[in-house]
Amino acid sequence: MLTLDKAKDILKEYGQEHLLKYYDELSESEQKELLSQIELIDFSVLDNLKEENRFTASRGKFEPLGAATIEDIEQNSEKYSAAGTEAIKAGKVAAVLLAGGQGTRLGFDKPKGMFNVGVTRELYIFQCLINNLMDVVKETGAWVPLYIMTSEKNNDDTVSFLKEKDFFGYNSDYVKFFVQDMAPSVDFSGKIYMESKSRISISPNGNGGWFTSLVRAGLLDEIKAKGIEWINVFAVDNVLQRIADPLYVGAVISSGLQSGGKVVSKADPDERVGVLCLEDGMPSIVEYYEMTEEMRTLRDEKDELAYKFGVILNYLFSVDKLESILNDKLPVHVVDKKIPYMDENGEFIKPDKPNGHKFETLVLDMVHMQDSCLPYEVVRNREFAPIKNPTGVDSVESARELLKENGIEL
Ligand code: UTP
Repeated sequence: MLTLDKAKDILKEYGQEHLLKYYDELSESEQKELLSQIELIDFSVLDNLKEENRFTASRGKFEPLGAATIEDIEQNSEKYSAAGTEAIKAGKVAAVLLAGGQGTRLGFDKPKGMFNVGVTRELYIFQCLINNLMDVVKETGAWVPLYIMTSEKNNDDTVSFLKEKDFFGYNSDYVKFFVQDMAPSVDFSGKIYMESKSRISISPNGNGGWFTSLVRAGLLDEIKAKGIEWINVFAVDNVLQRIADPLYVGAVISSGLQSGGKVVSKADPDERVGVLCLEDGMPSIVEYYEMTEEMRTLRDEKDELAYKFGVILNYLFSVDKLESILNDKLPVHVVDKKIPYMDENGEFIKPDKPNGHKFETLVLDMVHMQDSCLPYEVVRNREFAPIKNPTGVDSVESARELLKENGIEL
C-alpha cells in the first residue's frame, strides 16, 4: 500500500498535489481508498498533454486506398459467402462488442446498450445487436462466440441486464464479459478532477485497449483453445450493423489481406468521419480534422472522392497478428469531454459542455499496425445507424428512421 509521503512525492512530480487537499478530513477507510486510487493511476499519461507529444504532430504521408466496393462484393458474393460460412462453421470467428464507453453525448445514465430505441415496444440497443448476430447464427447454424468489453463503471449493470433479459435469446455459453482499464480525467489546465473528497475522477481509457484487457482477463487462452482465428470488433452504438457476417469475413479471407474494416462512401467531402487510407504505405485512418482541404476534395480518375471510404468502427482482425502486436504501444489521444466533478465548494457538478480532457487509445489506431487491410464497403442505409446523440445527426431519431426503413418494427 502506498504511504502518504510516497503519494505526495508522486503528486508533486506531476503537479497534482490538490488531490490530497481534503485528506485530513477523510475517514481512515476513505484515506485508504484515495491512496489506493493514486497507486493505481498511471500518471505518465499526463505527459500526453505536452504539445510535442500530441499524436497529431507526428502523422506520415497519406495516400488513398481503394475498397472492395458494393459492386465488387455483389459480383463475388457466392465466393465470399462460401468462404465466410466455412470459417464461421469451423468456429474460427468471434465477435468483440466494445461497450465500455460512457456515452456522454447520449446523456443516458445507464450503459448505452440498455437504451430502449423502441417506440411501441421495448427494443434495446443490445437487443438490436444480438438480433443482428442471430441472423448469422441462423444462416450458418453455428454460434459465434461473443466477448463483451465493459468498464468498471458499467460492468455490473451490463451483466445483470443481459442476464435478466436472458441474453435476448443468445446462447449464454457463448457470451463472456471482460473489463477495460481506466485513466484519470483532467481540466483544461491539466489538473486531475475529483468526483468527491476521496474519489479521483477516472474514466474508461478508450476502446484501443480492448485486446490487452481481453488478454489480461485470461480470454486469449480460451480463444486459442477454441481455434478462433478472426475477431470482429464492433461498437455498441450502430444498431444496424451486421456482425461476423459471412460475406465480410469471406471477403477478407479471400483477399489474403491481414485485416478488414467496414466502410461507407462519404456523403459529402466534409462529412466528419475518419477515412481508411494509407499512411507511409501502411493501412491507416485519417480523422476528418486531420485532412487538408486538398485531401478532402481530391478526386480520382473516375471523378470520385479519392479519400472516400469512412470507417464505421467494425473491424476484422486476425488473432495471430493481434498477438504479435500485443506489446506495441498505441498512441494516446487527448479528447475533450464533459466530465462530472466536484468544484471548490465541494459541490458535484454535471457540466453541459466539455470541461476537460480524457486520455484514450483507439481501436482505429490498431489498423495502422496491420500489414494490410481491406476496406469493405457496406450500404450506408442498411448497415450504419449509430446512436451518439439524443437528436439530430447520428441520433436516436435518425437511427429509428433507419430501423423502420429496414423493416424493423419499433
Ligand atoms: P465513442 O467514441 O462513441 O465514445 O465510442 P463513448 O464514450 O461511447 O461516447 P461519448 O463520446 O462519451 O458520447 C465508440 C465505441 O467504443 C466504445 C463505446 O462503448 C462504443 O462502442 N468504447 C469507448 C469503449 O468500449 N471504451 C471506451 O473507453 C470508449
